[in-house]
Amino acid sequence: MNFQWYPGHMTKAKRQMQEDIKLIDLVIELVDARIPLSSRNPDIDELGRNKFRLILMNKADLADKKVTELWSAFFREKGYFVVSLDARSRNGMKSITDIIMEACKEKIERDRKRGIKNRPIRAMVVGIPNVGKSTFINSYAGKACAKTGNKPGVTKGKQWIRLNKNVELLDTPGILWPKFEDQSVGLRLAMIGSIRDEILNTDELAIELLAFLKENYPGIVQERYGVEEAQELPEILCGIAENRKCITKGGEADYSKAAALLIDEFRSGKLGKITLEKP
Ligand code: G4P
Repeated sequence: MNFQWYPGHMTKAKRQMQEDIKLIDLVIELVDARIPLSSRNPDIDELGRNKFRLILMNKADLADKKVTELWSAFFREKGYFVVSLDARSRNGMKSITDIIMEACKEKIERDRKRGIKNRPIRAMVVGIPNVGKSTFINSYAGKACAKTGNKPGVTKGKQWIRLNKNVELLDTPGILWPKFEDQSVGLRLAMIGSIRDEILNTDELAIELLAFLKENYPGIVQERYGVEEAQELPEILCGIAENRKCITKGGEADYSKAAALLIDEFRSGKLGKITLEKP
């Protein structure tokens, strides 16, 4: 499968981020909890050198809880602060502030020793497209936020969202591009819907997904679609087509329709809480 690539956008976004990162103390990096590694761009480690780091494993509502815990431990071991969340929900946003303070306590202490009081922590949100950056900013900032920055006479300033007396957030997130190190990274990104479907081969993707499910979450497909899993993958897909009445005009099983349905049900969590990669 071939995945489209946009070097022009990438270069511009990266340059913008290099500028923005100079202004902040803390990088809040969003990853997708279903593919915590494939949804990262490791360039952020270089870009965010010397910054405090927090990883938010977002869409945790769709991910396998046990595996999310393994990933949390994995990232913590590497020195990141980690929180798993559903960015659509405002519950738990208070604890984000607590963890931001915790992640930046060295800076707070340094300021205190220098006699600097009430200097808020400045943070920015980064991540690949569709991981939930805007959703998170909206939930976290809520309605009560005041925009700061952009002083009169300064036309091209940065907009900061004052979250509370301790934290300010850059209002535009930094966009990272996924890193297609190998085919499997591209496949996982495609499975969660991070690559435009028009450029994908849905039949092939569904077969890959079925193979993964059969191996890692045995019984799920059988239970939902009433098909015997101990068959070849294309036959399972045909079984799904029959179960869901995906039939062509000629009266045959509509393989492609079933493939699209399977992928759609996986993405929306109807197949259950599934994580596609383990640490
Ligand atoms: P971005 O700024 O990083 O590009 O992502 P954005 O916030 O736009 O979120 C992308 C989609 O993901 C949105 O769905 C949003 O509702 C959904 N989303 C964000 N956080 C979570 C989460 O924690 N759990 C779940 N289940 N969904 C989340 P959308 O606008 O409906 O787009 P789509 O679903 O039609 O692609």
